[in-house]
Amino acid sequence: MTKLTREEKQTLIRQAFAAREKAVAPYSHFMVGAALRSADGRVFTGCNIENAAYTPTNCAERTALFKAVSEGVTEFTDIAVVGAIQGQVNELVTAPCGVCRQALFEFCGPELNVIMAKTEEDFIEASLGELLPYGFGPKNIR
Ligand code: THU
Repeated sequence: MTKLTREEKQTLIRQAFAAREKAVAPYSHFMVGAALRSADGRVFTGCNIENAAYTPTNCAERTALFKAVSEGVTEFTDIAVVGAIQGQVNELVTAPCGVCRQALFEFCGPELNVIMAKTEEDFIEASLGELLPYGFGPKNIR
């Protein structure tokens, strides 16, 4: 269960929108931003970065996660995700893809609060455990 206030969630959504501005999406034109909040309150942002070879594309959520982990931060409480076609408003929320759910599960486990937003006012939340039930993680191979 997240401890963030509504205002703190809205700040995280705003940071995800700002990160989305940096998206590199010349193939899909679908621009995604993510803002990942660590247990100590720091925020790591990310955008999707596409590639002409397609499969090396990195999603916004994993960009944020890998930035944090590469700086030694490995505990997280919340992530905000926003996505829409370039120049359009969000008609649907963007939920993390299956690969990102798995990557987040490695570090966050089922408690991570996932905020999926159309706007700062209009968002839904689910735990990573709800998005990835019976997730396979480091505890399974210990
Ligand atoms: N994408 C993300 O960055 N995060 C998601 O949660 C869903 C999909 C990106 C990958 C690709 O660059 C584009 O959105 C279209 O799939």
